Amino acid sequence: MKSLKLRILTLLACALFLFQPFQVLAQQQLSEKEIDQKVNTLIKKMTLQEKVGQMTLFTSDMTVTGPTIRSDYEKLIKQGKVGALFNAYGADYTRKLQKLAVENSRLGIPLLYGYDVIHGFRTVFPIPLGEAASWDPSVAQKSAGVAARESAAAGLQWTFAPMVDIARDPRWGRIAEGAGEDTYLGEKMAAARVKGFQGNSLFATNTILACAKHYAAYGAAEGGRDYNTVNMSIRRLRDVYLPPFKAAKDAGVATYMTSFNELNGVPATGNKFLMNQVLHNEWNFNGFVVTDYTSIPEMIVHGFAKDETDAAYKAVEASVDMDMQSGLFLSELPKLIKEGKVSEQQINKAVARILRLKYKLGLLQDPYRYSDATRQKQEILSDENKQAARDVARKSIVLLKNENQLLPLDKNIKNLAVIGPLADDQEDLLGPWSGAGRGEDNISVLSGIKAKVSPETNITYVKGAEITGNSEEGFEEAKEAARKADVAVVVVGEARNMSGEAASRATLDLPGVQQDLLKAVHETGTPAVMVMMNGRPLTITWSDKYIPSILETWFLGTEGGNAIADVLFGDYNPGGKLPVTFPRHVGMVPYYYNHKNTGRPKAEGKYNSKYIDVKNTALYPFGYGLSYTTFSYDNLKLSKKSMSVDDSLQVSVDVENTGNRAGDEVVQLYIRDLVGSVTRPIEQLRGFKRLHFEPGETKTVHFTLNPDDLKFHDINMDYRVEPGQFKVFVGGNSKDVLQTGFEVTQ
Ligand code: NOJ
Repeated sequence: MKSLKLRILTLLACALFLFQPFQVLAQQQLSEKEIDQKVNTLIKKMTLQEKVGQMTLFTSDMTVTGPTIRSDYEKLIKQGKVGALFNAYGADYTRKLQKLAVENSRLGIPLLYGYDVIHGFRTVFPIPLGEAASWDPSVAQKSAGVAARESAAAGLQWTFAPMVDIARDPRWGRIAEGAGEDTYLGEKMAAARVKGFQGNSLFATNTILACAKHYAAYGAAEGGRDYNTVNMSIRRLRDVYLPPFKAAKDAGVATYMTSFNELNGVPATGNKFLMNQVLHNEWNFNGFVVTDYTSIPEMIVHGFAKDETDAAYKAVEASVDMDMQSGLFLSELPKLIKEGKVSEQQINKAVARILRLKYKLGLLQDPYRYSDATRQKQEILSDENKQAARDVARKSIVLLKNENQLLPLDKNIKNLAVIGPLADDQEDLLGPWSGAGRGEDNISVLSGIKAKVSPETNITYVKGAEITGNSEEGFEEAKEAARKADVAVVVVGEARNMSGEAASRATLDLPGVQQDLLKAVHETGTPAVMVMMNGRPLTITWSDKYIPSILETWFLGTEGGNAIADVLFGDYNPGGKLPVTFPRHVGMVPYYYNHKNTGRPKAEGKYNSKYIDVKNTALYPFGYGLSYTTFSYDNLKLSKKSMSVDDSLQVSVDVENTGNRAGDEVVQLYIRDLVGSVTRPIEQLRGFKRLHFEPGETKTVHFTLNPDDLKFHDINMDYRVEPGQFKVFVGGNSKDVLQTGFEVTQ
């Protein structure tokens, strides 16, 4: 008996000894060739069921009910019929579920864990639209990097981000999740976010797979109504909506997600043009494509597939590799293959794309390498991460108005009223999609202000009203507080669930009685600062007229209150610019800066393109944002006045900080192609730089215009530069610009 025990112990010791070096060896990143070989060998061992299992993604019930998973999913994982899970995170929970796959399924292929890490995991960063207002891709890369580190330690290897949909209609709630209305800014932000999530190596345990979504044109939903029909010319699709997806590809994005909408009559999930032609044939994408949720069976509802089998068939024929949540690949594909309608070879291709990434992540060497409780503890909400969140948050704030330099406020201010439904709110700071974020971690505006002002400052906080609803009961108290104060800071806007998915709005006004609350405060005569939190442009024409200072803060996340206080009291000089136009009235939308001229551009007089009942300019144009200092532009120069179609051109401009504070300015370059074989937009962003200026400092800012900056899809759908006259505009927003021009010759 004793000797048997001893023998077992010796064996165990040997196994451990052997296991150690194996681990070390196994943790080496495999070469592409080795991965291909391993994938091919593995696929040969797989049954049809196991193959379609790899093409199947299910949700855990975690975010709804705590860490649980349906027992039938658990069974399917053990049977090797699930390749990936989402909405499951945490080192322990992911480890536990991973065990089901690794120890119980026949081939022990590890699960891939995905999640909507959209703007931070536990340390929450500004919503992507807000972050785009930084006009600084390095900022987006940084926040995605932090999000990747935190989520990878919590067992995740895949985020359903970045959302790269161009959104020209602020009624669409999902405008909050992307970079706004412009293609060029969208491309830069898309690439930065992909790089931030994926880092330099997918094998590293602090990087995760990115997923460019929603492919494609989801942001052009008719009427801004979520999930609605999209119909657009292929030229507009290729010139405006696809480039950020291509930028994500060029930055190495590992996966794409299809969109819920139909595009020109064909649902995106069954759209061969989008996936077979563009993604694979033209862009040579070799990662995998996942559906958005149950968009496979939704093709039946669209009226594009006759039943579930047909829907699965249409998705797989359009090169969808992974089915999110519907389970139809699992149930229908084996049948389709047996009937010979779908070839097993095609399935093998999809499985190979998925397995290749699992190998790249190192999951087959160590399935638990991402679920690391120690690292999770170190990473989650670390001081470093919170500092990064505060930095990104400050850079995302846009100063919309600042009459008589009311801002920044003095930290020694005697009496300050802090008013409004969002003033002491922690939850809404999370914005739509909060990852693993928790309201309780967030610094409210009130707390941020309290931590900033002198101990002698009297702060009176009054909520005054709810975000929605009609009650004006709190107005008297708010007025009283304002009357006694030197300045009133009024924090108003939307609740976090008023933007994001399925949160379209037919109006863009401040919800509820918030504008009346502002009026009540304004009537006291005390100067008011309006701090806005919202996921989309709002029509704040009244405030623009009467409230002296307005700060757009979006939803800034964990460090929101600190960042806002930094700006309110001048520890940080705001330098953000709008990534989207603010219209005067909802009836104007879609209203975007890079529109076409029409034959009767808006002007005075009757017969031109305008509304008769609202001023025909933006309330705040694209690229707009003020600072506590001022900048002047001078000396716009081109390196030549004429160039050939394949040549490039240098643009330079002198920018001076003419005020007495240091600050950032986003120098913006726009072009206009005056005559084309098809008409061109009145202006197009083609360069930008966010730069820091000391008081009185002048910088000569340089840009290069390359052929790619001038190309578009011409009348024959050829992507090329057309010879002719171009205008160049440079300035601090899309409307206040210096201009010059050049000619392109054949
Ligand atoms: C549906 C949303 O449209 C998509 O953006 C998200 O990634 C998935 N649900 C998964 O949560």
